[in-house]
Amino acid sequence: MFAALAAAAEDRIIFDLAGIEDSYDTLLRELPGLSVRFAMKACPVDEVLSCLADKGAGFDAASPHEIAQALRTGVPVERIHYGNTIKSDRHIIEAYRLGIRDFATDSLEDVTAIARHAPGARVFCRLATEGDGALWGLGNKFGCSPADAVRVLETARETGLTPSGLSVHVGSQQMTAEAWRSAVERLADVLEVLDRRGISLDHVNLGGGLPALGYLDKRGRPLDPPTDKIFAVIREGMQQLREIPGHQLDFIVEPGRYLVADHGAIRAHVSRLSARQKLNGERQYWLYLSCGKFNGLYEMDELQYRLVFPSHPDAASVPAVVAGPTCDSDDAYAHEHGLVQVPRAAASGDPVWVLSCGAYATSYMTQGFNGFTPLPYTCVPGEGGGPPGPRHQVPPPGAGTPLEGARK
Ligand SMILES: Cc1ncc(COP(=O)(O)O)c(C=O)c1O
Repeated sequence: MFAALAAAAEDRIIFDLAGIEDSYDTLLRELPGLSVRFAMKACPVDEVLSCLADKGAGFDAASPHEIAQALRTGVPVERIHYGNTIKSDRHIIEAYRLGIRDFATDSLEDVTAIARHAPGARVFCRLATEGDGALWGLGNKFGCSPADAVRVLETARETGLTPSGLSVHVGSQQMTAEAWRSAVERLADVLEVLDRRGISLDHVNLGGGLPALGYLDKRGRPLDPPTDKIFAVIREGMQQLREIPGHQLDFIVEPGRYLVADHGAIRAHVSRLSARQKLNGERQYWLYLSCGKFNGLYEMDELQYRLVFPSHPDAASVPAVVAGPTCDSDDAYAHEHGLVQVPRAAASGDPVWVLSCGAYATSYMTQGFNGFTPLPYTCVPGEGGGPPGPRHQVPPPGAGTPLEGARK
């Protein structure tokens, strides 16, 4: 990864496929016996999808276009589900035509439309969660109450569909194991009610939310998710849920960020380091990068990325607001919380490496807002190994110290 960053003469996003494979292997080692349906929205890059499909992953697709892209990897259609609870009639028809037989749902309106346009399909109902403890809660837009889930799955049965499962999503970049504990409690309650009503599901989908390891929070402090505890709680939860129905219950997860975030990095460059006097008389440094919210760093308002300035090792630094290149004031870190130490000598054109931005970078890239074109990408076979993270050797945020691997 660092060799590819160093070799890049122009801006681009680089994905380390071996790193992604390592994260996939770690996930299956930590949570044995479950199936992975990669949430394509996190990284809809053909090479990344093929790499995961070759490892045995399936896909959580959110539209007919994503389904078609997933099919191009050669993965059997049974390993793809339509995981978006929001679907027009036309999209249901198109997905069914493409061979999809597993649909997410969360309302009577949606399940009725699936019965009409995808006769005989299997449906899993998404339960609402609070999203507490996550950087992005996803709380209100998706999922229904336990009572509604029972109604939806009973309607599925009455209309000739197969009620096949329940799903949850505890919120993206979920930082607490407690979120999975309470999701499991909710799933257990609904499974018990359904069991009493003669609806026996064959799977539980534990959704996404597993955290990336290499982010910094808005104040520039390492986010240190309790991954070991999270995996332990999920393992216990799977055991608890398996005991409810009295027949085999399978488990699915839909990770997005966990598999790809730490294995993507952007080679950007310094647009300008400027110092401007504010209206209160204070002078403030701003580091404008060649990429920002609209071309790769969409999530920069909720977190900070680790920055490496390979041409300024051990340089004197100044505290600066980091921002993207567009004429949009949202295109900046949430700087009221924390400034970043950047090399005082940073000059226009100097390379900057932005780490842990492999998730939701290509998908949240505008077509050319303000004329800043989408970043090209490169996939490298990579060196594998663990992702950067609080427990790994990483440079301090924004400091001019390159990673160990920076000179490789
Ligand atoms: C249905 C569904 N599953 C999985 C994911 C992936 O979430 P994450 O990237 O937090 O793992 C998302 C993301 O929004 C989603 O909407």
